[in-house]
Amino acid sequence: MSVDVTSIQQVLTGDLEASHVHIRGWVYRKRESKKTVFLWIRDATGVIQSTIKDDTAAWKNAKKVTIESSIILSGTVRKDERAPGGVEISTDKITIIGLAESFPISKDLSEPFLRDVRHLWLRSRKMSLIMRVRSETLWLAHKFFRERGYVEISPPMFITSACEGGATLFEAKYFDRELYLTQSAQLYSEVLIYSLEKVYTCAPSFRAEKSRTIRHLCEYWHIEPEWAFGDLDDVMQVEEELVSNIGKGIANLCGRELQELGVDKDRLLNISRPFPRITYSDAIETLTKKGFSIEWGDDMGYEEEKSLAEEFKGPFFVYDYPKKTKAFYCKTYRDRPEIAMSVDLMVQTIGELTTVGAREDDKDELIKRIRETGLNVENYNWYIDMRRYGTVPHVGFGLGVERLLMWMLNLENIVDTIPFPRTLRRSYP
Ligand code: 4AD
Ligand code: MG
Repeated sequence: MSVDVTSIQQVLTGDLEASHVHIRGWVYRKRESKKTVFLWIRDATGVIQSTIKDDTAAWKNAKKVTIESSIILSGTVRKDERAPGGVEISTDKITIIGLAESFPISKDLSEPFLRDVRHLWLRSRKMSLIMRVRSETLWLAHKFFRERGYVEISPPMFITSACEGGATLFEAKYFDRELYLTQSAQLYSEVLIYSLEKVYTCAPSFRAEKSRTIRHLCEYWHIEPEWAFGDLDDVMQVEEELVSNIGKGIANLCGRELQELGVDKDRLLNISRPFPRITYSDAIETLTKKGFSIEWGDDMGYEEEKSLAEEFKGPFFVYDYPKKTKAFYCKTYRDRPEIAMSVDLMVQTIGELTTVGAREDDKDELIKRIRETGLNVENYNWYIDMRRYGTVPHVGFGLGVERLLMWMLNLENIVDTIPFPRTLRRSYP
């Protein structure tokens, strides 16, 4: 298409009054009166109104085009108070690129229907805005770790043994063997710290989540840094910096998107540090006072975490979890062997946003923990090797990208943060 195209954003903001422009995009909305057709056109940068009069060469195609047809629209930019954005295009020519069949998303906007036509719903304004924020969030996370000297590594997706427990492990057929889909890059990242010291991954993790909740996906994107010689204080500080840095970055890079999504930018600009810290025991006490029947040693579920988060304004840490609530690789305090050196970062309405931890770096303790958890030591030989050859104290954490987006954008369900959500019931399209 060899025309000189102007983006809709440029037309809306570029002071192009009286200029002749060509815009390229899709028909977003259409309204007709006897002598005028109004078309709203969208491209990747925005939506603009155009008018087509019955005495122009554009009239025939204006009548013909349907919602979601792709077109090139040519005309003169005019200020118009009544148009959204204060600018419209007085059209003289429409070239139809692809005439759309009757678009299925018009009246029925029920959630199940929109999930069936996810591939089309992704064109909606809401989803486009979220996808932009998602892209910037990933970029900001990469930038954060690169600027601090972390090396990005590429973990395997097929794995031989569980990282986070068997209940959520997906089996995968691998020639004549059974392997699993990875739940976390952590065990593999731990290998790389022995040469690179500070590493991170941004990759999918898979969890066979058998319950439907607003915060669980079966496939999600996981940001996981891991580094040598760190302790729990270091790791909490890095998390505070990461979360407030991404919040600020999104407020600055995505002002327009946040406004259209109705998100208060100031909330993201003012994520105050340090985050409050409470112990797991304190959390249990608070929950008991709030009427939950939960005892020391129990896992906190979604309802408990959500309720606990109501006691705070922003993100907060819960630390010193009972060993039995945490995975086999968690280091325990040498003087308090029942307590894992593990911390969860919590936020409002979602609960857990990250899990942070020190890793067991003593070979014999690790083997004991693997056995205690009912796992097969044989399967973890390569992992135990890290404790045989120059072991070091080390730490890391895992942050779910979709939970972070859900929290930043006040979304009600995690499925809206990822283009093609995979859940218990849904794997199409
Ligand atoms: O708490 P998790 O299971 O921790 C780990 O996987 C560690 N190996 C991470 C590490 O230390 N490197 O998962 C970490 C985070 C959770 O806090 C949550 O944000 C997210 O991953 N997450 C999920 N997000 C969406 N859907 C799911 N089913 C998730 N499961 C975990
Ligand atoms: Mg966790």
